Amino acid sequence: MSFTSPEQRQAFIAAIPKAELHLHIEGSLEPEMMFALAQRNAVDIPFASADEVRKAYAFSNLQDFLDIYYQGMNVLRTEQDFYDLTMAYFERIHADNAIHAEIFFDPQGHTERGIAFSIAIDGILRAMDDAGSKLGISSQLIMCFLRHLSEKEAFATLEEASPYLDRIAGVGLDSSEMGHPPSKFAKVFAKAKALGLKTVAHAGEEGPPEYIWEALDLLKIDRMDHGNRSLEDEALVKNLRDNQMALTVCPLSNLALCVIDKLEDHPLKKMLGLGLRATVNSDDPSYFGGYLNDNYEATATALNLDKDDIVNLAKNSFRGSFLGEDAIEQSLQRIDEYVSEFDRKIG
Ligand code: HPA
Ligand code: ZN
Repeated sequence: MSFTSPEQRQAFIAAIPKAELHLHIEGSLEPEMMFALAQRNAVDIPFASADEVRKAYAFSNLQDFLDIYYQGMNVLRTEQDFYDLTMAYFERIHADNAIHAEIFFDPQGHTERGIAFSIAIDGILRAMDDAGSKLGISSQLIMCFLRHLSEKEAFATLEEASPYLDRIAGVGLDSSEMGHPPSKFAKVFAKAKALGLKTVAHAGEEGPPEYIWEALDLLKIDRMDHGNRSLEDEALVKNLRDNQMALTVCPLSNLALCVIDKLEDHPLKKMLGLGLRATVNSDDPSYFGGYLNDNYEATATALNLDKDDIVNLAKNSFRGSFLGEDAIEQSLQRIDEYVSEFDRKIG
C-alpha cells in the first residue's frame, strides 16, 4: 500500500516501533557534547565552536571520517562521560520510537590513548541499564575490534573483556576496511565464538565481495554490517537470501562517505526486492547528519518506499536482532498492532 502524502508517510515512520542494529556509540558524540566534555576534562580541541566542528564533517571516503572520529573521541575520559554519551543516544532514539538497540563500542580507540577498558564499558553499561529502566529501551553491547590494528591486539582486547563477557553480546569488526580483510581476524573471531559470543563484521562498505565471502566463511558472522557490495555478486546475493542474513544498512552514512553519489542511487529498495533481510540504521549519527528516523525518512523519500517496505524494514530490525525468539515475536506483533491502529485511524 502506498501513502497518500509525504506527511502521512513521515508520521507512519516516526511512530512505528523499531530497533537499531548498527550504531557506533562514539559516533553519536554531538559537537555540543564534544565541547562540553572538552571543557569538563580540560582537553584541547582544534575547533572554536560546535558549528566549526560541523563544518569539518565533509568526507570523501571512510578514512577521512575515521581520522576525525578518532580525534573526536579524545574528549571521552571518565566513566561519567561514557554514561552521558550513551544516555544522550538512548534519549534521542526514544524520541524516534526505537525500543531496542544493539550498540557498538570501540574499546581500542580508548585503551590506545590510556583510558581503561573498564571506564568505557562501565559507563556504557550503566546507561544501558538506565535506558531499560527509565525509557523502556532494551539493548545489547557489541565490542568491535579495530581492523587497522593487529589480530594480536584484538586478542588482548578480548582478554581484557573477560570480566564482562556476561554483558557483551558479541564482537564486531570496524575501522579501515580496504587492506584489512576479515581473514586477518579469523582466529580471534573463532575464539570469540568459542566463548559464546555472537559475531558481526563490517563488510562490503568499501571492500569487494571477496571480503564479504571471507566474513561469512572465515568469521562465520551472525549478521553483516553494511554489505552494500554484495549486489555485485549473484552467488553472494543468493547465499545471503537463502540464509536470511541480516544486513545492517546505513543510508545516510553511505551518502556522507561517498559510497553512493546520491540517495536516489541507494541499493536499499533493490535489496528488499531481492528478498534480502535489510535493515536501516544510522552508523554514526552525529557525523552523518541523522538518527534512525532521519535515515528511514530520507531513504523513503529518495527511493519512494511504500508502507510495506517500511513495515518490512522495521520487522527486519527485530528479526535480525540478537533478541530471543519470544521477544522478537512480541515485537513483530507490536508492529502489526501499530499498523492496524494506523489503518483504522486513517480509515
Ligand atoms: N565504518 C567502519 N568503521 C567505523 C565506522 C564505519 O562506518 N564508523 C565507526 N567506525
Ligand atoms: Zn559502522
